[in-house]
Amino acid sequence: MRNVINILDLSVEEIEELIAVADDIIANPQKYQDACQHKILATLFFEPSTRTRLSFESAMLSLGGNVLGFSEAASSSAAKGESVADTIAVCSGYADIIAMRHPKEGAPLVASAHSSVPIINAGDGGHYHPTQTLTDLLTIRHEIGRFDNLTVGLCGDLKFGRTVHSLIGAMSRYAGVKFVLISPEELKLPSFVKQEYIKNKDIEYVQTNSLEEVMGDLDILYMTRVQKERFFNEEDYLRLKDSFILTEDKMKLARADMRVLHPLPRVNEIATAVDNDPRAAYFRQANYGKFIRMALILKLLEVSV
Ligand code: CP
Repeated sequence: MRNVINILDLSVEEIEELIAVADDIIANPQKYQDACQHKILATLFFEPSTRTRLSFESAMLSLGGNVLGFSEAASSSAAKGESVADTIAVCSGYADIIAMRHPKEGAPLVASAHSSVPIINAGDGGHYHPTQTLTDLLTIRHEIGRFDNLTVGLCGDLKFGRTVHSLIGAMSRYAGVKFVLISPEELKLPSFVKQEYIKNKDIEYVQTNSLEEVMGDLDILYMTRVQKERFFNEEDYLRLKDSFILTEDKMKLARADMRVLHPLPRVNEIATAVDNDPRAAYFRQANYGKFIRMALILKLLEVSV
């Protein structure tokens, strides 16, 4: 039985297989419509979500399966003090596969030790978000066509941004990748990510607090929101929340083939006027999430079509 807690739980070859299946699903959706008949996905979300939860549910429904779950801790028995271990021991008897989001780093790993069915980490605190990274990789493949020899700019909250941490882990496995880390001092990439995925691998990187200075160098600009829910005081959040705002003027500094990605939700960090720029790929990106999650469900349930 396989779990996906970290993006590195999947090899580069397995990610290629998932992308191939996702592409086949996009081209031939009817081929997959009964693939997971009588299978149940549980979405156990102890933290808010729009894209991840609903795309997982849409994915399972589009495979002919069923879904159950909860969308906030308050409507589960966690509100009465039940542990993650007990919740999972029970829910793994009700479902064939579980996608779980939790505010505590490491909670899905704990869950995997108490589950009799595959656990997918759908985001754990400021740690990792592997299925967002699968979404990002499918987007990059479609928008740019390759993973190697790319200059990837990551901008905003690199400290708490779990999507950033997982994407860096994934991209660090491709040759010729360079990272440009754009953040305020207080929101710099944490050392557990920088050391393991960049420094230990001798990957070229630049750290800066100026988006304008590096715009013209980038193949990908991965924008992120400042993660309000991870701050200990509101004053710091208010001071940092608008550190970077991507505008039409800043887009003029970028190359014609650059792509803007964002895991969403957006707050203020991309002006809505940028949405009309063909280089703005973030809504297309959100759509890819459903298809790569369909491919992942098939893989973890060992269903072949
Ligand atoms: N990208 C992402 O995780 O979005 P949600 O929080 O809406 O699931």
